[in-house]
Amino acid sequence: MAKTSGKASMDAVALLKADHRKVEELFAAFEATNSASRKKSIATQICTELTVHATIEEEIFYPACEGTVEDQDLVDEAYVEHDGAKVLIAEITASEPSAPFYDAKVKVLSEMIKHHVKEEERRVDGLFAEAKAAGVDVDALGDQLMRRKKELMAQVKSTGLPPPITRTFMGHDIEAGAPVEVAEEAA
Ligand SMILES: [Fe+2]
Repeated sequence: MAKTSGKASMDAVALLKADHRKVEELFAAFEATNSASRKKSIATQICTELTVHATIEEEIFYPACEGTVEDQDLVDEAYVEHDGAKVLIAEITASEPSAPFYDAKVKVLSEMIKHHVKEEERRVDGLFAEAKAAGVDVDALGDQLMRRKKELMAQVKSTGLPPPITRTFMGHDIEAGAPVEVAEEAA
């Protein structure tokens, strides 16, 4: 019998890497445009892709790595890196391209993600390589990740992007201020 879906299923690592490539393209597209409406729409796509990616990694991939991969610090750091990115995602989602620091927030988010991608994809001791070496069942996980990803994307489509959930940041008080103006020295 012919497969109902024309697309072969991806293993977990292939799926997560494909997500990485997609956001890299979106960040490049953001940098290449000067149009505020294009910026807004690309930034919305970036925040959606990253939120869904982080959620499926945190719900499915990282738990599978916990207790199995050799370097557990990598898993802990990945959670914290995600939480850092979520702060910027929340900022960008709630503001407009005309707002001060908007482009800078997107740029810094892209740099954080670049680091995250390196930590996961490094060939020798990256998290993906370690997961494979530890015998994590990447085929079964790929199906799980894909199912959850479809579910989350459908949710975003119907109810919008939910506020990010941090897993390691405990919500300590942060006060919102503004950059300090340098006072003109009196002559
Ligand atoms: Fe990732």
